[in-house]
Amino acid sequence: MSDRWYTKAVVYCLDIDTFADSNGDGCGDIPGLIGRLDYLARLGVTCIWLNPIHPSPDRDDGYDVADFYNVDPRFGNLGDFAELLHQAGNRGIKVIIDLVVNHTSDKHPWFVSARSSPDSPYRDWYVWSETAPPDRKQGMVFPGEQTETWSYDRTAKLWYYHRFYDFQPDLNIKNPAVREEIKKICAFWLQLGVAGFRMDAVPFIIEETDPGNPDSPKDFGFLTELRQHIQWRKSDAVLLAEANVEPAQLVTYFGDEGGSSNRIHMLFDFMLNAKMILALAREDPEPIIDALRDTPKLPPGGQWATFLRNHDEIDLSRLTAEQRADVFAKFGPDENMQLYGRGIRRRLAPMLGNDRRRLELAYALQFSLRGTPVLRYGEEIGMGDDLALEGRDAIRTPMQWSGLPNAGFSTADPADLVRPVVTDDGFGYEKVNVTLQRHDSSSLLSWFERMIRTLREAPEIGSGTCSHVDVPAPRGLLVHRADDGTGTMLFLHNLGPDEVTVDLSSVAGEAEMPNDVLADAEYPDPGKLDDLRVSGHGYRWIRLRRTA
Ligand code: NOJ
Repeated sequence: MSDRWYTKAVVYCLDIDTFADSNGDGCGDIPGLIGRLDYLARLGVTCIWLNPIHPSPDRDDGYDVADFYNVDPRFGNLGDFAELLHQAGNRGIKVIIDLVVNHTSDKHPWFVSARSSPDSPYRDWYVWSETAPPDRKQGMVFPGEQTETWSYDRTAKLWYYHRFYDFQPDLNIKNPAVREEIKKICAFWLQLGVAGFRMDAVPFIIEETDPGNPDSPKDFGFLTELRQHIQWRKSDAVLLAEANVEPAQLVTYFGDEGGSSNRIHMLFDFMLNAKMILALAREDPEPIIDALRDTPKLPPGGQWATFLRNHDEIDLSRLTAEQRADVFAKFGPDENMQLYGRGIRRRLAPMLGNDRRRLELAYALQFSLRGTPVLRYGEEIGMGDDLALEGRDAIRTPMQWSGLPNAGFSTADPADLVRPVVTDDGFGYEKVNVTLQRHDSSSLLSWFERMIRTLREAPEIGSGTCSHVDVPAPRGLLVHRADDGTGTMLFLHNLGPDEVTVDLSSVAGEAEMPNDVLADAEYPDPGKLDDLRVSGHGYRWIRLRRTA
């Protein structure tokens, strides 16, 4: 893989605690994951993104870190982690880890010390106010679970800032010692061999919080500083950021006004995510066309990361109230399926009524749109969720490996599992599991393997230009294309339920023996592209041209 390896990567996101338990204690661990690397290699994954791996009180699924220089003992030790990197590397798989440095756990020794005395060397590592900030009831990320962003600490006799839960005090980015420490954390993990970081909550990391100012300024310079630092240490290391902000602001995260990409390499495309979900709900591609049109142009080297599901709720806050209502009506009609008033806490398969055709359509669409695809564990076998669990835990149930007890995830007593396995009628592990699908060429898992293989042969998808083909198209049909120096791919995705045909002879001149490389069915040869049929909820990936 080239130095810009991330533009051609297939990223697989997993949480070690729910993936595979090797020692039967009910919690997934690193040796368990190592044992499943061949599975990921066969699927075509080239990069694993690990949700937080550090020691943690685990009140926010590990996003409350108590020690940045270690792995949670439930998962193993640093030796196991080094072994994971080695074994993954042997299979051509890179590993990136979550970098959660907007805040720490309140149990982190830095915070314990900081709150204990004004003379603590860590006092100024956090954000304090002597008086109750008037804006403390603003800016909550978890409405309903969080009532304020400043809480009073009785030990320090001061208010401290926490953008997220009250047990996650924010680090003070204005303090040079904090900045240095963040760089040291990155250097440590790079030295061990990780390929980069998924940076949590980036807009909040760079916020120079002032009590009473809910719109505190942001220090983008820190991102430039951090990028330089990691690149000196490992030239092809990547920063993949979570920055769910207005599209107009996104470019600033990639680079400064000089136009080069000197900050974050890759950003999750939250807008496209919400628009894809809306398009699937309305069976109408217009929202995707809007998103493609409105996406800011990226500086060279900048890259989008696409996703349909991640470990959080699907965030619909960037949609209008009417659009959001349409999505809720279709995919999250019960209040119990919704979260924070803005999102849906379900996996994709249940949202799509476990309809295999629509699942393939959705993922073919995501993987064909510009950017690097990120896939959440379990989606490749169509796992369901458990709405009896609290909040976002609904979609964080153990991986379903087989029909054995506990889905083959663990040999522990079911009562000791980190979370219960899904057992319901439609999505229970006896029906939905890897073992059943592995050798069945018609399974969803086999389809994912084929689709990812096809993608790997089409580099223009990840790193080329992606554009909407603006021709008169029947209702429901999205036509887009990907181009780069290696060739051109044409994509037809029919979001609607009815069969359609389209005349694309206007692009036929560019074609050299066009052929279907992935489709929901056997279609007649595309010929002159003047009579292309696509079934309801069907799709066709057509190779138009290949030069390399
Ligand atoms: C964003 C993460 O995706 C989410 O899971 C977490 O709760 C917050 N950041 C706080 O770290």
